[in-house]
This record gives sequence, C-alpha cells and structure tokens, in this order.
Amino acid sequence: MFYPEEIIEEIRQRNDIVDVISSYIKLKKTGSNYVGLCPFHNEKSPSFSVSPNRQMYHCFGCGVGGNVITFVMEYENFNFVEAVKYLADRCGMQLPETQVSEEVRRNANLKNRILEVNKEAAKYYVYQLRTPVGKQALEYLEGRELSKETITKFGLGYSNKYSDDLYQYMKSKGYEDSLLKETGLFSWDEKHGVYDKFWNRVMYPIMDINSKVIGFGGRVMGEGKPKYLNSPETKVFDKSRNLYGLNLARQSRSRTYILCEGYMDVISMHQAGFSNAVASLGTAFTGLQANLLKRYADEILLLYDSDGAGVKAALRAIPILKEAGLPARVVRLKPYKDPDEFIKALGHDEFQKRLDDAINSFYFEIEVLEQQFDLTDPEGKTKFYNAVAKKLLTFTEKIERTNYIEAIAEKYHIVKEDLEKLVNRYGAQMIANPERRSGNEQNREKMLRQKESSLKTSQKILITWLLDDVSLFHKIENILSPEDFREEPYKTVAELMFQQYKEAGELQPAKILNQFESKEEHNEVASMFSQNMNDELTLQEKERMLNETVCQIKKDSLDFRNRNATDIQELQQIVKEQAELQKLHISL
Ligand code: GTP
Ligand code: MN
Repeated sequence: MFYPEEIIEEIRQRNDIVDVISSYIKLKKTGSNYVGLCPFHNEKSPSFSVSPNRQMYHCFGCGVGGNVITFVMEYENFNFVEAVKYLADRCGMQLPETQVSEEVRRNANLKNRILEVNKEAAKYYVYQLRTPVGKQALEYLEGRELSKETITKFGLGYSNKYSDDLYQYMKSKGYEDSLLKETGLFSWDEKHGVYDKFWNRVMYPIMDINSKVIGFGGRVMGEGKPKYLNSPETKVFDKSRNLYGLNLARQSRSRTYILCEGYMDVISMHQAGFSNAVASLGTAFTGLQANLLKRYADEILLLYDSDGAGVKAALRAIPILKEAGLPARVVRLKPYKDPDEFIKALGHDEFQKRLDDAINSFYFEIEVLEQQFDLTDPEGKTKFYNAVAKKLLTFTEKIERTNYIEAIAEKYHIVKEDLEKLVNRYGAQMIANPERRSGNEQNREKMLRQKESSLKTSQKILITWLLDDVSLFHKIENILSPEDFREEPYKTVAELMFQQYKEAGELQPAKILNQFESKEEHNEVASMFSQNMNDELTLQEKERMLNETVCQIKKDSLDFRNRNATDIQELQQIVKEQAELQKLHISL
C-alpha cells in the first residue's frame, strides 16, 4: 500500500460511488440501488448494479465489481496509486508524500519498471522492422499476407542479428543490470557476457488486457528450430493467466469468443474481421484463463489445429471451460490445418460458415470416441454404446442428460429406451461400487474439486450472510473465528469483518476492499458482497442452511488442523472440538 490506510479510506468515503459512476455512465434508481448498462461488457439490458449503502458496484452479467477505487482503476485503466491520486484530486484532498514499506514499494516499482523495459523493447523491435536491417522480416510478414495495418495493430517487430544490440540499447538508456535480469529478455553468460534472448526473429509482443507488454514470442523466418521462442515467466508474465489478443478481442463487443492455439491464427483471424479471437500462450489452456474469458464471453468456439495434437488439446480444454461455466462448440477446418491456412485459402465467408457449423462440444467428444471403435463389428459397436452411456453420465442434471440421450440415440440410430437403460445401469453401478468411481483418477479429481468448490461456496455464503445480518456474529463468534476460513480471499475478508464488528459493531464492506489490489480479487470480493440471501427460504430452512454452512467450514478447518497438529495437547483439543461440533445447533 502506498498511502496509509486511513487516507485511502477517507478518499473512498469522500467520493460517493453513485456520483463517480454517474459521471461515466447513466444510472437509474430502482429500489435502494442504482442500475445501468455495464461499461465492461456489451449488453442490452442493465445488469450493472451500484449500491449507495454498501458503496460498491457489481455486474451480474460479467462478474466485475468493487468499490469506487476499483471502478476508476477498471474504467480509466489506472493502477491503484493512479486511481487514488485521481480520486483525491476529485474531492480536493491533498495527498501526503508517499510513505510505504521499502519492500512493497520496491516490488510494485519493479513490476512497473519491467513493464517499462518491455515497452521500450517492443518499440525498439518495431523500429528495427522499419529500417533496412528489418527488410527481410518485413518481407516475411508481407509474404504471409499481413497488411501494414495488421502489423501495426499487433505491434509486430524484428530483433536484429547483433547478439547484444538490445542490451546495449537498454544500457544506453540507463537501465541497470539488476533490472534487466528480471525482464527475461537477456541471458547472462559467465564467460561471454550478456546476450539478447531474441535474435534475428520476427517479434510478437504479448500484452495483458490493458495492452501492457508483458512478454514476447519470437518466430524464425521460414524453417528453423525452435520455431518460436517465448519469454520466460517473469514478475509480470504469467502464462497461465493471460491470453494472446484479449486486449483487442475485449473491444470486439461480441460475447462469443474464438479460442485457438497460435499467435498467427489470432492475427490472421483479426485481419479477416474476426476480432473476437484469442490464443493461449504456447502452453496448455488453464482454468485461470477460462475464468478470465468468462468475464467477457458467454460461449467459446474452439478452433484448434485439425491434427491429432489439436484434437487432444480441444478435448482437454472442453472440461476446463465447462467447469468455468462456459459452453463450448468445436469448429472443424478440415482439410485445412489451422485458421490462418483456411482463411488464406477460402476467405472470410467460408470461414464464417465453418464457425456457424461448429458442433456442440459433447458431440465432438462422442465423435472422437467413435473413432476408437470398429462400428462395423457388432462387438465394437456394443463397446462404443457402453462408452457413450458412461460419458452420458457426466451430465448431472437429469433434464440435460435426457436431452442428450435422446439426441445421441437419434444420431446413432440406437433405440432410445435401450440407451437410457444402459445409462441407468452404469449409474447404478457407480453408486453400488464407489471404488470403481474412485479408481478412476479423473473422477477422483473431479470429486475433490467439487468438495473444494462447495467449501468455497460455504465460506462465501456465510460472509454474505454476516453482512446482511450483523446480529449473526453474536451467534457464531464462539464457534468460528477468522482462522477457520482457509481460502483466500475469504480468509482476509473474514478477518477484516470480525475486526470491524469487534471495534464498531457494524460493517463497512467497501472499506474491506481497500485491502485488495488485484482486479480479480476485487471482483470476487464484490460478488460476495452483492449476493442477496434468498429471502424466500423459511426460517427453518435458513436455520438448517446456517448450521450446515457453519459446520462444513468448521469441520474442514478442524480436519486441516488435525492433519498438521504436532503435539498431543493440540490433538486432544481438536478431538474435543470435533465432538462438540457433532452437537452444534445454532438457532435463529
Ligand atoms: P505459424 O506456424 O507461423 O503459422 O504460427 P502459429 O502461431 O500458427 O504456430 P503453431 O500453430 O505451430 O503453434 C501454436 C503456438 O504454440 C504458437 O503460437 C506458439 O505459442 C507455440 N509454439 C509453436 N512452436 C513452438 C516452439 O517451437 N517453441 C515454443 N516454446 N512454443 C511454440
Ligand atoms: Mn499455426
């Protein structure tokens, strides 16, 4: 934190959230809240809600949320300090000279300085592409039919043939070695000194959602190995939580996104007018990337290469997307290898047709499955039907499962009732024989994940609940303490809530947000504070739910302590608490 907490809190309080947000977008009062069209995603009916009581906003459509500081950060693309300065200015407050812990300042500073070097490097590569040394690179890009406009839009560049040219350039600008070492752009060699990492390659800057250069991909021109060299991960470059092209795609106003494999695929799709395309960064698609996409997209079109590796990658991505709540369809480009090739050969309209014909990801999985069996052989056919039945069991919703059973039966000319029976038989086997289930690693992982997410949900529910009804603190304070919340950001939130309650007997949710710096955390915490407890529940139901929620959190916390306990006394205490938990009853 750059400023003392009291200062930040005062700035927050002196900038009413409704005033500030109204100066950017039109808000309408409904009940005790204000609503409007979300400025962070494209929508026709308002799902962006601002609460004057809580001094927070939350979009039920895309999941963003936070306090007045977060809003200004998101809207103006400011970092935390910039947003605080802006708001201080707005309410005529004088900010003190910054006083921060040396380490925090150094770290925040370091990140900014790495970004600064990256930006300088990107500019340098762009510049090289326009000079005579970059002639071959420019010709290479033009040979791949990229327009001047596209080259500029993606900031493409060239790293020249001198082995330490960029290094010398950075030194001449006064950057010190200790900083340059953190950028991943250079390698240090005991004997021969410093080298540029990228050398005689076409350069693709990789940007975060705010168009800050966080790393690079460098491609050889023509044949040669490795085809791509990518920046290593650094303090600003995390490959698992960024997507190539997302900074541009998020301006596309489409809620359907195309997910593909390569930088070139993204670039040629954007050039052809499909500006909703993004790619992972040369590594497998992750859950973090899926969550990131979820902020901007409602549906994903998977466009992986049509070879075996591409199919495998698609099969891996489908469940990850599903887990994040993003339905996927798969686009087939055969006989072409990838989007770049396809568009070059057949152009925009044919490509659009393929997108329109994308198949539901479940059908795709079944199609791939089908290829593993010989359907001309009765035995092969039986095995295939069994495999399909098993797969159908992955739909936990009965209606959804029935719909798919119907569709698949029709598609593969199976009698619907037979397939249904088969599915039910597998279902029964799973229940009767749980080892079968746990023997299957994938299922085990899934169950673990489910347990984890239900625990998270419990923590979230309880926090929401406490916020709605402060009197509950009194009922649970002897049972739960903030340490029982084990997952971040819930743990920190719980600590702050308990603290506010103890000190003032009331809560200030927007103040709690000051403790978090990343947008992801703000979104998550704001969504916790924006949920309403279901008022339709009867008192009895509420009571049961509260008891279950508290029990689950406490039980998990005790289990955890049990696993990590080191002395007998502690163990005895845990056992005692576990026994007490059995008898727990909180009445409302
Ligand atoms: P072109 O082959 O030029 O059309 O590029 P592409 O982006 O389509 O590449 P490709 O489909 O071969 O690979 C997909 C992605 O995997 C690339 O964009 C890179 O991120 C990554 N990749 C490909 N080759 C390599 C490599 O040799 N090393 C590393 N580290 N990553 C690679
Ligand atoms: Mn490719």
